Amino acid sequence: MAIISDDEGIRKREKKNPIIKPENIEYDNTFENSIRPKDFDSYIGQSALKETLKITLEAAKKRGKPLDHLLFYGPPGLGKTTIAGVIASQMGVEIRITSAPALERPRDIIGILMSLKGGEILFIDEIHRLNKVAEEILYPAMEDFTLDMTTGKSQTAKTLRVPLPKFTLIGATTKAGELSSPLRDRFGMIHRLEFYTKEELTKVVQRTAKILEVEVTEGGAQAIAMRSRGTPRIANRLVKRVSDFAIVKYDGVIDEKVANESLDILKIDKFGLDTTDRALLNLIIDKYDGGPVGVETIAAALSEDVRTIEDVCEPYLLQAGFLQRTPRGRKVSPEGYRHLGIKMPSMQTSLFGE
Ligand code: ADE
Repeated sequence: MAIISDDEGIRKREKKNPIIKPENIEYDNTFENSIRPKDFDSYIGQSALKETLKITLEAAKKRGKPLDHLLFYGPPGLGKTTIAGVIASQMGVEIRITSAPALERPRDIIGILMSLKGGEILFIDEIHRLNKVAEEILYPAMEDFTLDMTTGKSQTAKTLRVPLPKFTLIGATTKAGELSSPLRDRFGMIHRLEFYTKEELTKVVQRTAKILEVEVTEGGAQAIAMRSRGTPRIANRLVKRVSDFAIVKYDGVIDEKVANESLDILKIDKFGLDTTDRALLNLIIDKYDGGPVGVETIAAALSEDVRTIEDVCEPYLLQAGFLQRTPRGRKVSPEGYRHLGIKMPSMQTSLFGE
């Protein structure tokens, strides 16, 4: 199985959507690709999804038909691309990886569709950002494996139906709610990826350390897991960062002390919050009495873009219970105040029924 990545698309996406969280600045594609699991056994977590997929794959193989189109959604870093790679490798087919912002012009999507071979997988990341024209090209492609092409102008225009090979589309999104219903309805399976448990992340850390050939104790792996925000991509990056510390400042072994001291230096706290997360909570507390305050205001005050706040910072803060989403904006919860060691004003406390 080869992963053919649309580099041009990724470059464009990065230009349009600067990723500014600290752990993303050092986004290392080669590292991430080199440690991606290739089969279900080495893919840790998401057990419900794995079980369903194993059956779906088996059935598709027995029928000799391509897999149904699949949609994965959930916060970034939970392994949407990785599971798509596992599926391709288990089906013994190629996967082409692109992202919606790279499919700006009709010919971008048409070109990719026409280059696919039977059974291949097309992976479109951030599929909620697909433009209307690209979406409309995709409808017949997904449903009947045809491309409807219009040639000529107005009165002389002709529609040409071009057959396409039977392919599988895997879409990934952090925002399933932003997908149009005609597009959503064309996926045979829609699955939400969940945050990982501490135990699962401990296994991810141990697996990655083994690949990187760094020694990690059980306590060291757990300490990194605790601060990985339920996200394997973050766990993997932290293993790499902590192993640098272990080599340079200690004896090369990641134990609990080495992990905790390194992560303290990196300003990643016991719950995995980094400086941006804490700045967000502190802003709401200091400037807006704990909220509610709109996400646009938060983004402007932190000089971040709204998408980064919504897609990268908030999902974990909400899941950890530090932040709450209300119709009037975001609010810091009593747990959020407690985590920062700040006393909650009594008016807020009574609002939360504490
Ligand atoms: N790296 C990223 N996601 C992973 C997963 N689910 N299992 C193992 N390694 C991973």
